[in-house]
Amino acid sequence: MPSPSDPFRDALAYKPSLRTPVWLMRQAGRYLPEYRAIRAQAGDFLTLLKTPKLAVEVTLQPIRRFDLDAAILFSDILTIPDAMGLELCFEPGEGPYFKHPIKNPRNIEQLAACAPVEHLEYVWSTIHGVKSEIMGHKPLIGFSASPWTLACYMIGEGPRRDFEDALCWLYQYPTELSQLLSILAQHIGDYLIHQIDSGVDVAMLFDSWGGILPSTHYGACAIEPVRQVLNRVQAVHPDIPTILFARGIGSRMEMVRNLPIRCLALDSTVDLSLTRQLLGNSLALQGNLDPHVLYGTHEEISKQVHTLIQSMDDLTGFIFNLGHGIRPDVDFKNVGFLIDCVHQETRS
Ligand code: CP3
Repeated sequence: MPSPSDPFRDALAYKPSLRTPVWLMRQAGRYLPEYRAIRAQAGDFLTLLKTPKLAVEVTLQPIRRFDLDAAILFSDILTIPDAMGLELCFEPGEGPYFKHPIKNPRNIEQLAACAPVEHLEYVWSTIHGVKSEIMGHKPLIGFSASPWTLACYMIGEGPRRDFEDALCWLYQYPTELSQLLSILAQHIGDYLIHQIDSGVDVAMLFDSWGGILPSTHYGACAIEPVRQVLNRVQAVHPDIPTILFARGIGSRMEMVRNLPIRCLALDSTVDLSLTRQLLGNSLALQGNLDPHVLYGTHEEISKQVHTLIQSMDDLTGFIFNLGHGIRPDVDFKNVGFLIDCVHQETRS
C-alpha cells in the first residue's frame, strides 16, 4: 500500500502527497563523476550493464547523491534484442546498433521461437542487488522499450538515427512488421513480468520513437502493441503501476485514453496543463522540463522549474521529470540544484 512517505507511489495512485516526487530520466550516467569512475573500471558500457555488482552500484549513485524519490534500474532498452541474438554494439560517437539486424522479413519467424528472458539473468541479479540495498526505502522502476521503438533499432543496416528502414516496412512488409511487433510485445511482456517477479515496484515503457510514425499508423504500430504488452503484464501482476513515455505523441494524446496505464510521461514539446484538461484527473502525468534547461544559470533553472510547476493547477498525480534524458556533459551541480528547486517550489 502506498504510504505518505512514498510520494512517487502516491502520485501514481493519484493521491495527494506530502511532496511532489521527482526523478530524472538518465539520472545515472556520464554526467556523474562516480559513474565515469565505475564505467572506466568496467571498460565499456555493455560490460557495466552486464555485471550486476557494478550495475547495482550505478543504479544507487544518483539516489545517494541527490534527494530523488525513485531509483531506476541501470540497464538499457536494447538488452532484449541483444538477448534475441542480434548482438548489441556501441561505437563511440555512433550510437547503438546491432551486429545482426533484421535485413530480411523472412528472418522474423525465428525470433518468435527464441526466449530472451533466458539470457537476461544479469538483469534479475541487478534488481535483487538494488532491492537488498534500498530495503524498501525508495521505489525501484523497471523498464523496457515499446515494440515499435525496439523495431526501429532492429530493422535495417548498421547504426542509424533516422530509422528509415522501419518506416519503409510500414508499406513494404506490413504483415511481417505487424508480426514482428506482436512477437516483440510477447517478449517485452515476459521481460517486464520477470523484472516485477525480481522486485521492481513500477514498470515503465519507453516509446521513444512513436513520434516518427505517420498518424495513419500511430494507433496500430505504437499504441496497440503497447496495449498487448500491458495486457500481458497485468494478467500476471494486475496491481503493478505502469508508466508510458510517449515521446512525440503531440496531437495524438486522445489515443492513450483507454490504455491500462497509471501514468503518461511526456516530452518537453507538449503542454502539461492542456494534457491534463484533455485526459482528466485520474491519469498521473510525468515530465517534462526541457533537459537543456540544465545548461542555464541557477537563476534560469529556478525560473523554468517555477514556470512548469505553476502551470499545473493541482499537483496531485504529478511526477516531476525531464522531457528526455540528462545529457552527458551537464554539470552535476545543476542537477542537484534543479532537484532542490523542485522540492522548495512544491513544499507547501
Ligand atoms: O535512466 C536511467 O538512468 C536508467 C538507465 C537507462 C539507460 N538507457 C542507460 C544508458 C535507460 C532507461 C535507458 C533507455 C534508453 N536507451 C532509451 C530510451 C530513452 C530515450 O532516450 O528515449 C534509448 C533510446 C536507449 C538507447 C541508447 N542507449 C542510446 C541512444 C544511448 C546513447 C549512446 C551514446 O553514445 O551516448 C545508450 C547508451 C546508454 N544507456 C548510456 C546510459 C547511461 C550511456 C552509456 C555510456 O557511454 O556510458
